[in-house]
Amino acid sequence: MNDQQDTLAPVKILQPTVTIELGDEPRYGKTATDPNAICIGDVYAPSVTYEMVKNDPEVRAFIENADNNLGVLGFTEHGFRHVSLVASIARNVLRLLGYDERLQELAAIAGYLHDIGNIVSRHAHAQSSAILAHSILSRLGMDPNDVAIVMGAIGSHGDDNARLGEPVHAVSAAIILADKSDVHRSRVRVQDPSAFDQHDRVNYAATSSFLRVDGAAKSITLELTIDTSIAPVIEYFEIFLPRMLMCRHAAILLGCAFHITINDVAVL
Ligand SMILES: [Fe+2]
Ligand SMILES: [Fe+2]
Repeated sequence: MNDQQDTLAPVKILQPTVTIELGDEPRYGKTATDPNAICIGDVYAPSVTYEMVKNDPEVRAFIENADNNLGVLGFTEHGFRHVSLVASIARNVLRLLGYDERLQELAAIAGYLHDIGNIVSRHAHAQSSAILAHSILSRLGMDPNDVAIVMGAIGSHGDDNARLGEPVHAVSAAIILADKSDVHRSRVRVQDPSAFDQHDRVNYAATSSFLRVDGAAKSITLELTIDTSIAPVIEYFEIFLPRMLMCRHAAILLGCAFHITINDVAVL
C-alpha cells in the first residue's frame, strides 16, 4: 500500500459483454478464455499510478532517448507528445466502454511506456518496451498482476517483425487503438516538404485525427481529416492498412465495430 493508493476512491468493476467475431483472424474466440478475465484476485485500486510513472526520472530519460534515437533513424515524433496522447486516449477508450478505474489507470501507464524500447532498437521494440517496463514498475512497487497486464498491453502494440500485434485483453486493445490512431502533421520532424518520405507526407496531410468511442452503440470510429492536395487517401491506406487491421481486431475484442471516416466520408 502506498500514499497514492490511499487517496484513490474505491473502484467498481463493470464488465462489458464482449462478443468475439469468429473468422480466419484473429485466433482469439476459438477457446472459451475470456479476454476480460484478467482481474485476478480481489478488486483493488492500481498499485502504481500514472502520475508516479510520469514523474519517474528513469521513465522520462527513456522516453527522451527513445525519441532521439527514432529521430536519427528518420521516424516521426515518438516523444512526450505521442506517449501522453496514447496514454490519454487509451484511458478514455476504457472509460467510455465502462471498464473500471484500475484498468483505465493501467492503460494510461502502458500508453506512457509503450515506446521506451526504442532506446534498445526499433526492431522488436514492443517486446523490449515491455521488458523495460517490468523493471521500472516492479521498482515502483506495482502488483505483479498489474505488471503482467501492462506488459501484455505494451508487447501487443508492435507491427514490426513481419507480423501484427494481437490484442490479448482490454488494456492491450486500448493501447493498439490509441497508438495506431495517432496520425497527425505535428509528428513530422522534417521541415522541408521536398524531403518528405511517404510516412512524413501522410502524417503531414493529416490535419486532424480523432478516435470516437460510442459505448452505447458499441462502435469505435477513427475520424481523419486529410489534405488530399498533400497526400491522396490511397497513400494513407498503403501505409496504415496493417495498423487499421490491428485496430479492427482491437475493437472486436472490446465488443465494438471499427469504422474509419476520412474527410467525413465513411471508408470502413
Ligand atoms: Fe511503438
Ligand atoms: Fe507508439
